[in-house]
Amino acid sequence: MTPRLTAFAAGMLVAGAAALPAGAQDDQTLIETTQAAYEEDGRYYTEHDIPTYQVDEDGTVDWPTYSGFRRYHSECHVCHGPDGMGSTYAPPIKDGVMDMTYYDFVAVVAGGQKTDGGGGNSVMPALGTNKNVMCYIDDIYAYLRARGTGDVSRGRPSKKDRPSEAWREAENACMG
Ligand code: HEC
Repeated sequence: MTPRLTAFAAGMLVAGAAALPAGAQDDQTLIETTQAAYEEDGRYYTEHDIPTYQVDEDGTVDWPTYSGFRRYHSECHVCHGPDGMGSTYAPPIKDGVMDMTYYDFVAVVAGGQKTDGGGGNSVMPALGTNKNVMCYIDDIYAYLRARGTGDVSRGRPSKKDRPSEAWREAENACMG
């Protein structure tokens, strides 16, 4: 199994420090692949071991994606708008995540980002020490990718899986 970033460990990284695992595909392939290849402890991954989402035919979303919906709306929504749609403060992040690798996403959320341009003062805060963000970073990523493809529509997903035992344990270990 390829080692990958685990939730809070990723939060300790500074921007740009996340490295691609050996044998990983090029960035564009990683960015374009949203299809789930396997499931492990209730979370879905692409063939490149990147967290992703799963929506069943009846609209049921996997639990981590549902968790990502909730965390997004408590931690990111104030700036990035409801459902990742953007606001006057920050760009539509449902589109932003379709244009960057998982690793760059984690690095930006943990380390922040400031683009100087047009005289604007556009700052993405560094959230790497915020457990309410970093313990759920894979969940938030999966949710935003599902929004980006449109596989999850606006609003609260009405049907969801139950959290797995492993997901609960990881949450307790990270938040505790
Ligand atoms: C205080 C407001 C604020 C909050 C809260 C916030 N962001 Fe941001 N974010 C921004 C701004 C502003 C930018 C654009 C920064 C720039 O222009 O460089 C941004 C940029 C980003 C980017 C880079 C997008 C790109 O296309 O380059 C990502 C990824 C991101 N935010 C994710 C998140 C996530 C996930 C959360 C919640 C965990 C979050 N942000 C919470 C204001 C915020």
